Amino acid sequence: MIKKFLLAPGPTPVPPEALTAMAMPIIHHRSPEFMPILEEAKNNLKWLFQTKNDVLILASTGTGGMVGSVTNFLSPGDKALVIRGGKFGERWSEICEAYGVVPINIDVEWGYAVKPELVEKALKKDPSIKAVLMQASETSTAVAHDTEAIAKIVKKCKNTILVVDAITAMGVFDLPVDKWGVDVCITGSQKAMMLPPGLAFVSVSDKAWKMAETSKCSKFYFNFPKERKNLEKNQTNFTTATSLVVGLNTVLRMMKAEGLENIYKRHIRLATATKAAAKALGLKLYAKQNPSLALTAIQLPEGIDGGALTKLLRDKYGVTVAGGQAQLKGKIIRIAHLGYFDTFDIVVGIAAVEMGLKEMGYEKIKLGKGVAAAQEILMNM
Ligand SMILES: Cc1ncc(COP(=O)(O)O)c(C=O)c1O
Repeated sequence: MIKKFLLAPGPTPVPPEALTAMAMPIIHHRSPEFMPILEEAKNNLKWLFQTKNDVLILASTGTGGMVGSVTNFLSPGDKALVIRGGKFGERWSEICEAYGVVPINIDVEWGYAVKPELVEKALKKDPSIKAVLMQASETSTAVAHDTEAIAKIVKKCKNTILVVDAITAMGVFDLPVDKWGVDVCITGSQKAMMLPPGLAFVSVSDKAWKMAETSKCSKFYFNFPKERKNLEKNQTNFTTATSLVVGLNTVLRMMKAEGLENIYKRHIRLATATKAAAKALGLKLYAKQNPSLALTAIQLPEGIDGGALTKLLRDKYGVTVAGGQAQLKGKIIRIAHLGYFDTFDIVVGIAAVEMGLKEMGYEKIKLGKGVAAAQEILMNM
């Protein structure tokens, strides 16, 4: 028997409270029994997003939320400024291209955060840009972009909306949608929301709803105005992913009981411990700037293949961490600490990395050194 530990940045572990809630018999989505359940979810999502805006609940992964956030507000030929500092930034451009929206890319060196001045300059140069598309936390590089600073810039542009992929940010660190003025904010169920994959959540501001009135991109499944109308009746446009919404209420109640401040503090503590452990082991963080609190990307030493390391950890020790994507394939490992994570998830993750590296012949590893560094922080922070 190998006991399994899921330490990847999504899907993440689901608390037993939510697993058991989702195992209850299926309820019909148009029944009077289900409507209060959706109403509770709707209201608690507003709490989490710190918004008065509608937060749509879609049966899809996070990418569905991203697709809908392009097709519902923009039209073919419209320009969108895309912050491209990793795999998920690239996804914004790909989605734009798929629907005839013209991406104007700000290419950011991987491992770095975008300079907000570049966004300001681009918007000044071309005021016809309709949207700025960005990641609050770019999971492929483990870098957080400065959403607040960018929101301040976009707010000044009357005809431009800010669309934030907060898929590994919402519920990890403070992202007050209304206070900062984020027009469209997206997250997914399988990250800090502590649920299985299958739901996307999208908040939409009045400014963005106004743009939706003139949007001409093709849309059918992700029709936000229709979703909004249904949400008013505590329903969704198509069949609701009922069991996931039941689980959603459980996790949102857990999050409310913990409180936003405590949730953010927990993520800071776990991220700090993980990063300190990597440094104590003499390993470099991949993020050169603004490391995300959702996960830690560790650069691997010369001669250590990340693919082989993640495979070893998974197959021999039951520990799933993520490898690198695209140009980072084989070069980094990514240890998550978002959602249903606590003290000993970090201890397990670091201990596994130490053992894996030692087993792969990396001689500089001293077993326990990273764990000790993490423990110091976990005990004192
Ligand atoms: C920042 C970010 N954006 C988008 C996605 C895509 O989400 P999904 O796989 O749920 O479609 C992910 C998934 O890891 C992500 O981390």
